Amino acid sequence: MSRKTLIAGNWKMNGLLADGASLAKEIASNVKAIKPNAEVLVCPPFTLLTTVKKALRGSKVMLGAQDCHAEEKGAHTGDISPYMLKDAGCDYVILGHSERRTDHKETNALVKAKAQAAIKAGLKVIICIGETLAEREAGKAFEVTEKQIKGSVPSEATAANTVIAYEPVWAIGTGKTATPDDAEAVHAHVRKVLVQKCGKGVASRMRILYGGSMKPANAAELIAKENIDGGLIGGASLKAADFTAIIKTSK
Ligand code: PGA
Repeated sequence: MSRKTLIAGNWKMNGLLADGASLAKEIASNVKAIKPNAEVLVCPPFTLLTTVKKALRGSKVMLGAQDCHAEEKGAHTGDISPYMLKDAGCDYVILGHSERRTDHKETNALVKAKAQAAIKAGLKVIICIGETLAEREAGKAFEVTEKQIKGSVPSEATAANTVIAYEPVWAIGTGKTATPDDAEAVHAHVRKVLVQKCGKGVASRMRILYGGSMKPANAAELIAKENIDGGLIGGASLKAADFTAIIKTSK
């Protein structure tokens, strides 16, 4: 089953207007030069969306945000609705990142509600899951990711509107990466759970990205694995050269 590789940059809370514009322009021109056989996405902070959208004009690089609210509009001070993201030119939104699950106490139920709202607004969603170090050491990586999939992925999910990102929490921003075999074992398990949740056809076409200290030196080995369909990249997505090198590893 062929799935198009997706290389997604999660800029997190980094970048002022000038930085965002120049990083986006560099990525866009690199992508043109390398003609990637992958889809490329950048997810800057909210304040940079419009600027980055302009900087990406004429390129195939897509735009995403890092979170949204579960409602269309209303009295939710400080929040951004999926319709606002769509209006700002976003194609995707990342949901349930472990930093949001920790910093903002996001639950699987909330992530699912956000995903439903985002899909309804016409966005594609990247739903993040992943175990902590304590959970991995207790042998619970499969159990935890299974529970997260069952609780966070809505019934509206299709291979066209939903991507899963497996990001072991202990590998995010730490320089520690899951070995390709360990990552593949979880990805294969996640796909099995997706078969139960969404049916065989959808599960076989839905992309599952790996995230957690992915960089040029380890990307090729990870992405070569059967069930690893790309990467959600934090730190290395802030350097155009590193991000481009990762794009080049696409299947
Ligand atoms: P990292 O972050 O690549 O800096 O580990 C990945 C992520 O959190 O999406």
